[in-house]
Amino acid sequence: MINTVITVRPMSAHTGAEISGVDLRAPLAEQAYLEIRQAINDWGVIFFRNMALTAAQQLAFARRFGATEEDTHVSNMTGVDGLPEVKEVVKEADDVRNIGGFWHMDQSFYDLPSCFSVLYARELPPNGGDTMFSHLSAAYDSLSPGLQATLEGLSGVHIRAHADSSAMNSAASGLSFGDYVESRKRFAGIEATHLIVARQPESGRKVLYFSPVYTDRFDGWTRDESLPLMKYLTGVLGKPEHTCRFRWGEGSLAMWDNRAVVHYALDDYVGHRRLMHRVTVNGPWLEPC
Ligand code: OGA
Ligand code: MN
Repeated sequence: MINTVITVRPMSAHTGAEISGVDLRAPLAEQAYLEIRQAINDWGVIFFRNMALTAAQQLAFARRFGATEEDTHVSNMTGVDGLPEVKEVVKEADDVRNIGGFWHMDQSFYDLPSCFSVLYARELPPNGGDTMFSHLSAAYDSLSPGLQATLEGLSGVHIRAHADSSAMNSAASGLSFGDYVESRKRFAGIEATHLIVARQPESGRKVLYFSPVYTDRFDGWTRDESLPLMKYLTGVLGKPEHTCRFRWGEGSLAMWDNRAVVHYALDDYVGHRRLMHRVTVNGPWLEPC
């Protein structure tokens, strides 16, 4: 597609692009919508700067891409401006816990996870608090044909309780082991099984649908058996060449495809507050290859 409305500036070889030329406060005209949709299919995550959006405008933009969700499982996020689909993602100056502080895709512990997430920056620390993204097709494409073939038969079991985990499922930094055990009890049974290798229906590309946080094990394998291969895949997702890193500014908005990228909220701004508004959107899910 030749873009006639937006300008797309890729941030790396595979992952992320900055978009300009469109004002997200107004309803999106059809051509702008199509070009934005193409950009997210090409890059997995797109970024807009200096948007000055209200929560209602953010919600209206997100709704253009599908039905927005009301996440009732995340107790620390309340709706903004009376809009239950606009959630606060906040880290207070004295909080030690960081939401989203390892590679993950949103809500993968449901049978139908969020398709898109739309995150808007409200209050930022003076420096730090960047978000990283890694493309799941770049990860898959980098594997040997032998490992690709091995993974194609596998599914991963994704577990809600691991939202309070850090990499490879130990308690997240700032969370006591006792609280982690409590969380595992509270969210027991909220889990879903997803193919490890699947096809993103819009780009047609294969993805490595794996998260070092939410994926507990390969379906039908023990956790001990799963860990060595999962650790290897964690390194593949984190390979710098597969990633991009976004430095937020006031009024920045990111929109990512949870079928195509994992993301990671950096925890490097101790003593400062950071406040984001998040909306998630349903959509057609990954398909078998
Ligand atoms: C999220 C998330 C990342 C961030 O909202 O799902 O992981 O940088 N946020 O706040
Ligand atoms: Mn997230």
